[in-house]
Amino acid sequence: MGQSILGSKSNAGAKTFSRRTLRSGIVAVSASAMLFLGIASAAPSAKAADTGESLFNANCAVCHGQDGHGTATGKALNAPDLSSAAVQKLTNAQITEQIADGKGNMPPFKSTLDAGQIKLLVTYVRTFGKKK
Ligand code: HEC
Repeated sequence: MGQSILGSKSNAGAKTFSRRTLRSGIVAVSASAMLFLGIASAAPSAKAADTGESLFNANCAVCHGQDGHGTATGKALNAPDLSSAAVQKLTNAQITEQIADGKGNMPPFKSTLDAGQIKLLVTYVRTFGKKK
């Protein structure tokens, strides 16, 4: 009898304790969940901000010019006009390889750009052929 009263008392104590623990646990979990979501949503949205144009202007325009025709620097290095038939007749696979591995005076980008970014750039290089 006495033992069961004691038992229920300590049970009540355990319940209060666990409710409090649970509440602070939920606060901790939701705080870290928000932190995680914040980090998780920041990373892909930075990626989503990548466009062929922004990647090109950041990585390629120094030599090829924002219009693809080539800057003085690019011309000095023998960079071709990206709108030219010679470049536009290359396959997507050849342009992808060129960006990833570089060629001649063009540096390789495979360590700084991922496959998705290179794909955006190939599509963007194609737009120079249409603009002329
Ligand atoms: C440091 C200057 C420089 C930068 C930066 C640069 N390129 Fe080039 N690019 C060149 C040169 C030089 C060539 C000619 C390479 C050769 O055929 O010898 C070239 C060639 C090319 C070609 C033609 C490929 C071929 O086989 O004729 C493409 C397409 C190209 N670049 C795209 C890009 C893209 C996209 C970027 C940005 C990710 C970029 N380049 C960044 C200098 C540069």
